[in-house]
Amino acid sequence: MVQADPNISPLSASAAPQPHVRPANLRDLDRLTDVLTASFYDRDGWRLWVYPFIRLGIYEDLKQRLKAQSPRYACLAAVATPTAGSTATHGEAIAGTVEASLRQPWPWQGDRHVYISNLAVDQTFRRQGIAITLLRSCEQVAQRWGIRELQLHVMEDNLAARALYRKAGFSVVQTEDSPASWLGLQARRLMMHKTLQPPPHPTKP
Ligand SMILES: CC(C)(COP(=O)(O)OP(=O)(O)OC[C@H]1O[C@@H](n2cnc3c(N)ncnc32)[C@H](O)[C@@H]1OP(=O)(O)O)[C@@H](O)C(=O)NCCC(=O)NCCS
Repeated sequence: MVQADPNISPLSASAAPQPHVRPANLRDLDRLTDVLTASFYDRDGWRLWVYPFIRLGIYEDLKQRLKAQSPRYACLAAVATPTAGSTATHGEAIAGTVEASLRQPWPWQGDRHVYISNLAVDQTFRRQGIAITLLRSCEQVAQRWGIRELQLHVMEDNLAARALYRKAGFSVVQTEDSPASWLGLQARRLMMHKTLQPPPHPTKP
């Protein structure tokens, strides 16, 4: 099981109740799967029938990643804890999630980088700064791993995510075509990248 990591400081988003980010663990699996599946797949019409199978696939894949406890992998959860006076009766709710993994390609394939994936925010928590907060937490993870290069992919027609990544300081480095995009059946994939600033040197007294 992935243990709570005290090195990731809780970061607040702007909405109330204030979500904070913490490492995800196996107890979060069901709710993380719900957020991911609902964020990336719709349930309209015939898709309703395949939805449970897609969900199961996402659940099993994520379970493997969480169980592996790799030191080169982090799954983060943005959780909203009901505040005093709020009407929520349950414990914390998972508002969003993201995964970061350390990639060490062969020398001719580029530099070591942290690859960000599966960024998703529950519909009811959107436009509250949660995705930006999760991305900042990935930056903290990268800095802890000693890595300054961040990379991710986004579909060209995912305008919300592209706006988010632009705002977070990412820029497009590559446009990737596929047979499906050549035929106009699917949007192209964009590879985006960000270089983190080196941490400031402590000033001498
Ligand atoms: C993309 C997504 C993660 C954004 O999450 P979010 O928590 O709502 O994003 P934030 O509130 O942190 O938004 C930060 C900025 O991103 C941009 N942005 C986010 N959602 C946007 C939208 N629907 N339309 C336009 N810009 C958007 C805005 O610039 C926003 O800043 P603003 O609110 O001050 O204008 C969320 O919509 C989602 O889960 N989508 C489905 C899954 C997905 O596409 N994931 C990305 C895969 S690459």
